[in-house]
Formats: sequence, C-alpha cells, structure tokens
Amino acid sequence: MILAMHVLYTHLLLLAAKSVAALPNHGDSHSAKAPDTVVIDGHRLVDAKAQLNRGNDSLKASLDHLVGQADSWLSQGPWTVTSKANAPPNGTIHDYASQAPYWWPNPNSADGCPYINKDGVRNPEVDNYPDKIDSIKLFNSTYVLSLAWYYTGNPKYSYHAADIIRTWFLNPETAMNPNLDHAQIIPCANTGRSIGIIDFSQDYTEVIDAVAILNTGAPGWSKTDAAAFHEWNKRFLIWLAYSPFGVEESSATNNHGTFANMQITALALFTGNHSLALSKANLAKDFIDNQITSNGSQPQELARTRSFHYSNFDLTAHLRWALIARKLGVDLFKYEGPQGQTLFKAVNFLVPAATGGASDWAYPELQFTQYAATDNIHAAAQEGDLTAEGAVKKLQPPSRE
Ligand SMILES: *[C@@H]1O[C@H](CO)[C@@H](O)[C@H](O)[C@H]1NC(C)=O
Ligand SMILES: *[C@@H]1O[C@H](CO)[C@@H](O)[C@H](O)[C@H]1NC(C)=O
Ligand SMILES: *[C@@H]1O[C@H](CO)[C@@H](O)[C@H](O)[C@H]1NC(C)=O
Ligand SMILES: *[C@@H]1O[C@H](CO)[C@@H](O)[C@H](O)[C@H]1NC(C)=O
Ligand SMILES: *[C@@H]1O[C@H](CO)[C@@H](O)[C@H](O)[C@H]1NC(C)=O
Repeated sequence: MILAMHVLYTHLLLLAAKSVAALPNHGDSHSAKAPDTVVIDGHRLVDAKAQLNRGNDSLKASLDHLVGQADSWLSQGPWTVTSKANAPPNGTIHDYASQAPYWWPNPNSADGCPYINKDGVRNPEVDNYPDKIDSIKLFNSTYVLSLAWYYTGNPKYSYHAADIIRTWFLNPETAMNPNLDHAQIIPCANTGRSIGIIDFSQDYTEVIDAVAILNTGAPGWSKTDAAAFHEWNKRFLIWLAYSPFGVEESSATNNHGTFANMQITALALFTGNHSLALSKANLAKDFIDNQITSNGSQPQELARTRSFHYSNFDLTAHLRWALIARKLGVDLFKYEGPQGQTLFKAVNFLVPAATGGASDWAYPELQFTQYAATDNIHAAAQEGDLTAEGAVKKLQPPSRE
C-alpha cells in the first residue's frame, strides 16, 4: 500500500525562527510561556510570534498562507467515527474502522469469501468506513487551526479546533474508543490488523501538538477539555504499548515499527509517563543501528518497489522521533551507531535524487516524486547538517497547499 508522505514541517512558520533561535540572546521571547508541544520546538513558536510582532515581512507572507489554510477548515468538520453506517465486525460504532483498500470480494463464491488481493486496485467498498479519510482531516485541520490561533489570537480558529477535538475524542455520543482494534480490516479474514496502527502513527502527533498549543489558554478549550483529552491519551497509550496489536506493530523492524514507537514516545511524553518515554527514546538508537547503514542507505526500504518514497517515509518517522527524544534529553541527531550510522547520513543519501531527480536514484521506484525528500532535508538543515543546508535552495516544493 502506498502511504502519503507526512509533512514534518507543515509550514514555513515552523522553520522561520531558526535564525532567532540560534542567537545567544533571544531577548524578550522567552518571557512568554512556550507551548509544551511534543514534536515542534515550542520556543521556536514563541520566537516566530515575536518576530511577526516586530513586522517581519517574509514571516507575514507565511502567516497569510497559514491563515488561508485555516480559513478553509472553518467551514469543514467536526468529524466523528460514529457517522459510519455500520459498526465494524465485532466492534461498536465508537471503534475506529478502516478497510484494506486492495482486497476484493471473491467472484467465485456466493458470500464473496475469501477476499482476494488486487494490488493497487482500490475497492470502493472501503468508503463504507469514512473514518480514515476523516481522521486525516482531523489531523490536518486541528494542527493548522491551532497554529492560526496561536499566531493571530483570533478565537474563531481555536473555537473550531476545540469543537473538532471534543467531537472526535470526548463527547460521549460521538467519541472514538481509545483503540485501533478495527483498522485495515480484510473482510472474512479478520476484524482488524496490527499494521492498521499506521493509520494513526503516521500523523496523530499533529493533534497532540495542536492540543499543547490550545493548552496555553485558547478561548473555547477549557481545563476540563484538556484533562479529558489527557485521560483519553493515557488509555490510548496503554492500548498502543501493551495490547497484542500494539506490541506486534511496535515489534516490526521496518517503517511500521519506527512509526509505532515514535508515536508511543510522543504519547508517553505528553501524558507524563517519563520512564516509558525515556526508554522508547533510547530504543530509537536500535532502529538507527538496525535500519541505517554506514553510508546512510536503508536496505529494507531500498528493497521495495517504491524505494525513494519509503526511504523518505521511514526517515520522517526517525526525524520526528529525534525531535521528541530531544525533549527527554536524548540527542538522536548526534547519535552514531557502531558502524558510524547517523540520521544525517541517511538524509544525505537522499540528497542527490532530491536535488537532481530520478536519474540520480539507482533503486526501484514506480512513481518517483522528487519532493518526497523536501521536508526531511529541511529538517536536517535546521538541525545543522551542512550537506542538507546546501541542498535546501535546490529542493522542489511539495505539490500541496
Ligand atoms: C525574518 O525572519 C526570517 C526567518 O526567521 C529571517 O531569515 C529574516 O532574516 C527575518 N527578516 C528580518 C528583516 O528580520
Ligand atoms: C467475532 O465474532 C464472531 C461471532 O461472534 C466470533 O465467532 C469470532 O471469533 C470473533 N472474532 C474475533 C477476532 O474476535
Ligand atoms: C492533509 O495535509 C497534507 C499535507 O498538507 C495534504 O497532502 C493532504 O492532502 C491533506 N489531506 C486532507 C484530507 O486534508
Ligand atoms: C508507564 O510506563 C510503564 C512502563 O515503562 C508502565 O509500567 C506504567 O504502568 C506506566 N504508567 C502509567 C501511569 O501509565
Ligand atoms: C551502502 O552500504 C551497504 C551496506 O554496507 C551496501 O550494501 C551498499 O552497496 C552501499 N551503497 C552505496 C551506494 O555505497
């Protein structure tokens, strides 16, 4: 299955404050309380806001772009898992459900069982479960709306973000149960699969950061909401870390394991389970040791038919994991494996193709998209990797708004 590239730095405003953050004295900016975001550096948000207040024109252009995105979300949502027509097999309407897209009813049997795989051909039946597409809207909208509130102070953004979050997670009539027991169902064969956890682990940390931003005093988001969301995530974390599916997914040695453990680290940090957060932050070193070679290649992802896409996909999870781990005092950007493996080498391995195109990529790739590396290279540049910094000007912008 082809997974959409995640956006590590959704917006220029997250990149913006670098020059300020690098100065020895930040002046007034640290007097404001930084949001307790788990991926984003909260101090960078404070700095960018201070720069905007000083009238920085290039940041103003970024803000206009962000506000345009936020405005488009104002007329959409909220969404709820209870809007689907039927509960998943063996589940309730409050359980998140999604269906494996490439599995089709068997034409040679009356009941369609067993389902058969047609790789790459999407079965429209999956639309019976709108939860997956709605969850992507949930992730995107809450992130953009909370940032728009943070920078503009306009409460219409925080009210809508709060409504979306309460509807999806907290209101008893519409709330999702804190589990992913019914993700990536194959009808007849199962009622959900461990690999379905990636439906959340790919982008759910955006909601966590959105709430951390709202927690700094956003109108429409109460202390009661904040406490209830915290509680929901404690239960979700226990499911992710200790349920059979959660254990299976975080034992995966490929990108599924990277994403699952990154997500557990984020939720443990967010909910205050320091021992779990710290042990998972250190586990990231094993993933660097085992997935990345001394020249920065990721052999497991290179073996795939979309090797550029998946090398970037796994690296996104690594880089996000490193941003989370830093808040626990674990510096994965500086970490070096026994054969000299580093995150920066893994980024640099992708730089020639990211700047030169498909002819600079010597591995299988069915659908080369040059911009797949853009966010990863920006992230490494921001962390001080010189090769990545040199590549930034030559990168393709993602084909997205
Ligand atoms: C505006 O902010 C950007 C990003 O931090 C920075 O590179 C630029 O120098 C700033 N411009 C001015 C005029 O301060
Ligand atoms: C789902 O429910 C059916 C019927 O109650 C039962 O036979 C089956 O074992 C259940 N499957 C799972 C995975 O729980
Ligand atoms: C979510 O955001 C990503 C990145 O900006 C974009 O590619 C995707 O189309 C968006 N999806 C939805 C459903 O909003
Ligand atoms: C925190 O994680 C540990 C495992 O490291 C677990 O034993 C403990 O129950 C967790 N605590 C809470 C409050 O969830
Ligand atoms: C990178 O290292 C791996 C493992 O040692 C090796 O198989 C591969 O050929 C190397 N690739 C390049 C481009 O040097």
